[in-house]
Amino acid sequence: MERVLALEFVRITEAAALAAGRLMGRGDKEAADQAAVDAMREVFDTVQINGTVVIGEGEMDEAPMLYIGEQLGCAAGPCVDVAVDPLEGTNLVARGLPNALSVLAVAPRGCLLHAPDIYMEKIAVGARAKGCIDLDASVCSNLKAVARALDKDVRDVTAIILDRPRHARIIEEIRAAGARVKLISDGDVSAAIATALEDTGVDILFGAGGAPEGVIAAAALKCLGGELQGRLKPDGEDEIVRVHRMGLKDINKVLSLDDLVVGDDVIFAATGITDGDMLRGVRYRGQTAVTHSLVMRSLTGTIRNITATHFLDKKPRYVTRRQPCRPEKRDEKDAWENIAQQETL
Ligand code: FBP
Repeated sequence: MERVLALEFVRITEAAALAAGRLMGRGDKEAADQAAVDAMREVFDTVQINGTVVIGEGEMDEAPMLYIGEQLGCAAGPCVDVAVDPLEGTNLVARGLPNALSVLAVAPRGCLLHAPDIYMEKIAVGARAKGCIDLDASVCSNLKAVARALDKDVRDVTAIILDRPRHARIIEEIRAAGARVKLISDGDVSAAIATALEDTGVDILFGAGGAPEGVIAAAALKCLGGELQGRLKPDGEDEIVRVHRMGLKDINKVLSLDDLVVGDDVIFAATGITDGDMLRGVRYRGQTAVTHSLVMRSLTGTIRNITATHFLDKKPRYVTRRQPCRPEKRDEKDAWENIAQQETL
């Protein structure tokens, strides 16, 4: 994928963050999510990609926008898989808590795992501990291996994990091993990335969270040289059917980073919505708003921190509207009607 696309993808997460950030602390997670989805969807079609959503807001009958299988972009660009989470941490925004993000990952067609919206067991570390973790090994032996890789004592290793009753046993085991624990209320994408960034004080992620979030976090860790392993946890026959429908045969397989994100050409972009460990949240001041984003490309390993000042009076809504390019793949009539509608907004 062309490197210029990285900047285009940041424009998309910025738009979603600008839209959702307005609703911080209002106690309405659905409204915040909807605002992020609408903004993200709108900007996608200004980007020169022939994209297919593989991780999105749900399956076609569950979500009106950004549903799995939806076509995005101008159709003139490269054929790519798109994974989106317009608002990662809906509760965090609703309650004004840290680490809510707008995120996406894009890779050449066929390179992102098509994961259903079920749970996935995860373990993740940064580059220095890559190759030392094993989802099938005990919590204690993973902690010891990470401590060795980081040249630390186990009691100086910090594990991050969602604060959920289902994690009681893992938390017990981390404590018994003598390591430190950071419990989080939501947001395991940001938590997984934190293991690979200096100065976050986080060394390893344990626990089960959303499978779609697992694929998005894997894209980020691929760019950062870290590692994430996952195993799907379908609950009941219905979820098993959904796993098979996505083309996954062996449900119990430990999915490596390369199973989750094939190859070495993925771009990851995230914009902070609320303040967090790696990104500042959106700041609004009169007619301006400042966003803080991270964009990374696995091919080169470049990590860009982008602070952008947006002049809201120059953006009819939250984005600069560019002339959309001619749709080729979708139903021509509907697509041009949509464009005509957008242009009158
Ligand atoms: P949402 O943004 O969809 O609310 O997800 C937040 C999140 O905390 C994810 O980061 C995590 O993977 C998942 O929810 C965990 O699910 P659950 O809240 O059911 O434990």
